Amino acid sequence: MRRFLIDIDTASDDAVALVMALKHPDVQIEAITVVAGNVPLEQGVQNALHTVELTGVDVPVYRGLAAPLFRPLETAQTVHGQDGMGDINLPLYGRTPAPEHATDVILETVNRYPGEITLVTLGPLTNVAMALLREPAIAGMVRDCVIMGGTGQGYGNVTPVAEFNIWVDPEAARIVFESGMPITMVGWDVSYTYATFGPDETDRLRAIGTPLAEFCVDIQATLTTFAMESSGLEGFDLPDPITMAIALEPGIATATKRRFVAVETGGDWCRGQTVVDHLGVTGREPNVTVVVEADRERFLGLLHEAVAD
Ligand code: RIB
Ligand code: CA
Repeated sequence: MRRFLIDIDTASDDAVALVMALKHPDVQIEAITVVAGNVPLEQGVQNALHTVELTGVDVPVYRGLAAPLFRPLETAQTVHGQDGMGDINLPLYGRTPAPEHATDVILETVNRYPGEITLVTLGPLTNVAMALLREPAIAGMVRDCVIMGGTGQGYGNVTPVAEFNIWVDPEAARIVFESGMPITMVGWDVSYTYATFGPDETDRLRAIGTPLAEFCVDIQATLTTFAMESSGLEGFDLPDPITMAIALEPGIATATKRRFVAVETGGDWCRGQTVVDHLGVTGREPNVTVVVEADRERFLGLLHEAVAD
């Protein structure tokens, strides 16, 4: 049984990734830690608690940091909806998270299970960076760290070069990428290439007909509009779920490259860019396994299995 800790800025794609992890038979979710990102922290906490309740799996949810380390929070509510879950009037309120702070839980969990924790990050890296600042040694104590963030060989979704999770808190991302943590990076290029849902695929998923299948599709209402009007996609894309699929079954990442990756924190145009040294021109040792290809059919199969009952 593998042990996961999932750090999340719970909006419509994060929620689908949570369902996939919570319903996977071979994985024990030790904790779900929430960070501000897509939506303000409290909304992210409520969205996570609602999603966990829907799956019927008992996993604690913890509050993390409510803003990036050095910058004001910029949410993606125009993308995912004001509540982050498509604004379809779900009851996303009134639930209570576990009392401990997320960074305490990250440190306690990694120390309790040295070498065993797969850390999956689906939002800005503020919580993970804070944990590393408190105890740098955890970088060498996790089994692996699968990050939805950046772009491996493509363009950004917030700026021409930056993906949202890295752009929101680039200083936190730099701390994590420089920490020595064993990082697998699933960039937004993997999502728009292998995890976009057009009308046919969307209908196929919803036609499974279970409450979870309908939930996973219906909460994408706002994302669909944004993706088609602003990202030029044929429908919504699911970056967090394909990242979770790769964490759950690493073979879904059919091609990866070991690369030196730096995070830009300054500049007028390149805040939050993941600078991937594909030609080795920096001479720096690779610090990241960059996913460049994925198996769409195996990803879809895992998603369909997760919502089957
Ligand atoms: O850029 C996509 C990422 O930003 C996803 O994790 C999405 O949920 C948002 O957090
Ligand atoms: Ca996310």
